[in-house]
Amino acid sequence: MANLDLLRKRIAEIDRDLAERLPALTDPAGLESFRVEFLGRKGRIAGLFKLIGEIDPESRAEAGSLLNALKKKATEAVAAREKELSDVHLEERLASERVDVTLPGVYRKLGHLHPLTIVQREVESIFMRMGFDLATGPEIETEYHNFEALNIPADHPARDEWDTFYIDDTHLLRPHTSPVQIRVMKETSPPVRVICPGRCYRRDAQDATHSPVFHQVEMLWVEEGLSLTNLKYVLEAFTKEFFGEGYEMRFSGDFFPFTEPSVQVHVKAPGSSDWLEIMGAGMVDPAVLTEVGYDPEAVTGFAFGLGVERMAMLRYGIGDIRTFLTNDLRFITQF
Ligand code: DAH
Repeated sequence: MANLDLLRKRIAEIDRDLAERLPALTDPAGLESFRVEFLGRKGRIAGLFKLIGEIDPESRAEAGSLLNALKKKATEAVAAREKELSDVHLEERLASERVDVTLPGVYRKLGHLHPLTIVQREVESIFMRMGFDLATGPEIETEYHNFEALNIPADHPARDEWDTFYIDDTHLLRPHTSPVQIRVMKETSPPVRVICPGRCYRRDAQDATHSPVFHQVEMLWVEEGLSLTNLKYVLEAFTKEFFGEGYEMRFSGDFFPFTEPSVQVHVKAPGSSDWLEIMGAGMVDPAVLTEVGYDPEAVTGFAFGLGVERMAMLRYGIGDIRTFLTNDLRFITQF
């Protein structure tokens, strides 16, 4: 026959277990089996409730309230521990998954345009703002467009100057952009105002100012009444815009079979005493105008072939043309 004292003893045991074992539980599975052990349908507390029937009738009410209090206390204690565990778990997760927004981001190296491309595009944009159109021609050119139509017959000594790489008997890697003039004029009637940028090839030995691969921008303007004065004006406007103040420009006589008269243009950087040739230019030879079907009595024109590498060397103070092609990042990344 159970009595109240015995019940109190068992309640005290459970109390002690709650106090001792509960704080030691650290994972949800352990906590759940603890809950089943004490609060399950066949658990220890339910077992005590079963004893009520065996207690003296006058003590049963007290036994019931003692057990109810125990059950409440145990339920609350388990719930409290459960919350503690999930709080700890959350804190651990927050700590381990913390993102430090003050750390530097993942750095991606961005590329940029090659200095020659920068210069070429700037030349293009200056002339396009002046009303010029853009035209291009093939890098593998016919002998006709490259020489004959430019008033350089087969036996002409001037061919040596543009001695280049032949692909076959009649095709070659173009040594200048002037053949694009011919292609443009044959397709359009005057007035014509174009610039033609592009890569060129020559059998030049490489040195500080020569490269077998280089770039030119060709300019051509054909219209009624153009003279060398207009050419000079265009060039002065262009050099001023490209280089800014302080650069000087100089014209001197030259010879090209496709211009008459012909000039060469030099530019000098501020503070420097070196004049660097940047282009050949001149009034388009009447023989060239006739060849493309124009009437040299009705229209005149002027043209130039500008060296892009030369422009970049002057602008950036680069002493050796070879640095453009060696792909040395210490050089390239400076632009
Ligand atoms: N084509 C010449 C060269 O590469 C440069 C040149 C001279 C172009 C006079 C022209 C010109 O358009 O009119 O040396």
